Amino acid sequence: MAYTLDAFIADCKTSLTRDPGPAGREQVRGNLERLLANPDFIKGYCGDNQPKGVKVLYEDPKLGFQVLAHINGTARKSPPHDHGASWAIYGQATKYTDMTEWARSDDGRNPNRADLKVAKQYRLNPGQAGIYQDGAIHSIDYPDFARFVRVTGTDLEKINRIKVDLATGAVETIHARQAS
Ligand SMILES: [Fe+2]
Repeated sequence: MAYTLDAFIADCKTSLTRDPGPAGREQVRGNLERLLANPDFIKGYCGDNQPKGVKVLYEDPKLGFQVLAHINGTARKSPPHDHGASWAIYGQATKYTDMTEWARSDDGRNPNRADLKVAKQYRLNPGQAGIYQDGAIHSIDYPDFARFVRVTGTDLEKINRIKVDLATGAVETIHARQAS
């Protein structure tokens, strides 16, 4: 039987209740890949007939995690950013996302500046999910019509995050929800 959104959400609750740390999140990442392998889920939530934008598919009232469908129409390259005190899992639904993970080469003491170097670069293809732990800095680059499902530890709109200008190293706090 195909793995449904409802089954995925139930498994997220079980995993994150048992272990809200990296081990529980890794189970969520693995299960997101199972969900993305279900063509009915892709068609129903990430298909061509879905309105563009970010849709909250689920928010857990107790644990606070969110499942979001990012129905992108236009290509985008994000600046390096973190997800604040939250983690985020990106699962590719259609097309691809090129991911860059960044490491800081400064001591992190200056809140207004971050010197970054590339730690890892790879492409997420449909059915693949990557995890970005609390405070990890990454950037994304995707073509037109690339769609992905994100699971975040909490509503990112409610927490401060940062983005970094690569040219200058300037750090800026971001508040609004963005597909990054
Ligand atoms: Fe992100």
